[in-house]
Amino acid sequence: MRISVVTVFPEYFDSPLGVSLVGRAIADGRLEVDFHDPRDHANGVHRQVDDAPFGGGPGMVMMPEPLARILEPLEGTHRVLFTPAGAPLTQSTLDRFAEMDHLTLVCGRYEGVDERIADHFIDEEVSLGDYVLLGGEVAASVVIEGVARLLPGVVGNPSSIESESFRGNLLEEPQYTRPADFRGWKAPEVLLSGDHGRIAEWRERQRRERTAQRRPDLLDDDERPVGSGCV
Ligand code: ADE
Repeated sequence: MRISVVTVFPEYFDSPLGVSLVGRAIADGRLEVDFHDPRDHANGVHRQVDDAPFGGGPGMVMMPEPLARILEPLEGTHRVLFTPAGAPLTQSTLDRFAEMDHLTLVCGRYEGVDERIADHFIDEEVSLGDYVLLGGEVAASVVIEGVARLLPGVVGNPSSIESESFRGNLLEEPQYTRPADFRGWKAPEVLLSGDHGRIAEWRERQRRERTAQRRPDLLDDDERPVGSGCV
């Protein structure tokens, strides 16, 4: 899979792309990431990429021309713009992106990008959540990591992907490892019992209880505890 990142700060990605399983996926050739800096497509000695908003107001807007020069040749790839006004990123967004051959991630900066870029050169707008960051670079690195771990061969044991939080709309159950007794706090006896039926039943119950308690919004209407605040 190839991911093209449009950013005025390509150096931001040096460490997230260099370490851990993402670094290995790139070294192994399972994932290719390339960068396009709008400044390299800007005019004038100052290589200006932003300008004051029409109509006045605070901040600066990313000018359309440098972005269009990058994004027009990338037509045919799935072009994603990061903005707090986009649809919230979820596991199903990542599942969908991981199926693509070539994804383009556009990191907005300043007050955002000229809307004509979003209208004509972007296929989907995505937000990391209901808060405002300085730019889309953090979101792009989240997407790269979330997608990389879904690519074949990147995660050693693929069943860990199947059972994790947000698949089946349930949070993951709590996990324990040695020692069984840590400072007097004991791991649940059932997990040490060797009884796989009971263990599976316990895990399923934990997933449901945790989700009902912490994220009732993930459950269907009839599974939600009364008074959870979700309508
Ligand atoms: N750029 C600034 N804030 C953002 C957010 N919440 N999600 C995605 N991109 C952003």
